[in-house]
Amino acid sequence: MKDRLLQIEKAALSEILSIKNKEAALEFKNRHLGRKGELTSLTKELGSIPPAERPAVGELINTIRGKIEERVNHLLTGFLNAEREQRLRAEKVDVTLPGRYLPLGKKHPITQVMDEVVKIFSGMGFAAAEGPEIETDYYNFEALNIPKDHPARDMQDTFYISGDYLLRTHTSPVQIRVMQAQKPPLRVIAPGKVYRRDSDVTHTPMFHQVEGFMVDESITFGDLKGVLSAFLHSLFREDMPIRFRPSFFPFTEPSAEVDIQCVICNGKGCRVCKGSGWLEVLGAGMIHPMVFKAVNYDAEKFTGFAFGIGIERIAMLKFGIDDIRLFFENDVRFLRQF
Ligand code: DAH
Repeated sequence: MKDRLLQIEKAALSEILSIKNKEAALEFKNRHLGRKGELTSLTKELGSIPPAERPAVGELINTIRGKIEERVNHLLTGFLNAEREQRLRAEKVDVTLPGRYLPLGKKHPITQVMDEVVKIFSGMGFAAAEGPEIETDYYNFEALNIPKDHPARDMQDTFYISGDYLLRTHTSPVQIRVMQAQKPPLRVIAPGKVYRRDSDVTHTPMFHQVEGFMVDESITFGDLKGVLSAFLHSLFREDMPIRFRPSFFPFTEPSAEVDIQCVICNGKGCRVCKGSGWLEVLGAGMIHPMVFKAVNYDAEKFTGFAFGIGIERIAMLKFGIDDIRLFFENDVRFLRQF
């Protein structure tokens, strides 16, 4: 038995040298040390040898088992390490490789400013409304107290389509549409595209406005000042100097234009503000009784204010852009900056 054991040991230890991979090692381990392995069956045969020899043979079996186990485990650890090493190498990320460029779309600067304006007014309880870009003479002019042949029509050089139809020259007609459909109290904001026959560094034939108005019993010019001041301070900066200047619009009385301090010279006077230190940013006023009449509101009972904001102009001032046409050339090198 002892000879057999030593032979097994010799054969096993020499076989180990030829094992080339993890699978072979596992198979080897199982064959020699497993429950059906040779050494295990020899252990079972211990009973058949003289009792005096058993301890020595038993110990020999254990020693051999231990030796084989140690060697094969050592081998297995080596295979497993190599395997992990290889996997890690395959998974390795070269952090110095330039990344793959994912083109990422962004909101156009005009849309960004529109969204911001709408957001500020939503915060003050204004709900958004929309109207058609193709309007009738009635909504664009007549109902806003701009009768035919009125000189105020010259303020806005119109694209006429045919008959009564035209491209709206401002978002003010949305006031009429909303007031026809709803009763006060109203707090409404109307963003959209408008069209005028105009083209130079500060004018494009299509541009964007946000109209707003508020109607209720006892709305005053103080409300107009409060809401528009809060808006401008939120949009520009908290301590931006602003002023309300008398003006004229047919659909408001009294009317005002609102200026912010010149963002280029901080009020000192420069080419952009034509030396005045101020820049006009919006038109506003108390809604004219004739407008209320057009929508069958009782002008004795209701008052309201309205305003119109030119979005391109605000964007030019906010971003310091001196040519409005840049917004519409869609040069990504320009657009990427916002
Ligand atoms: N609709 C005017 C324009 O396009 C802007 C405007 C001025 C709108 C005064 C208003 C307002 O609602 O009250 O020039």
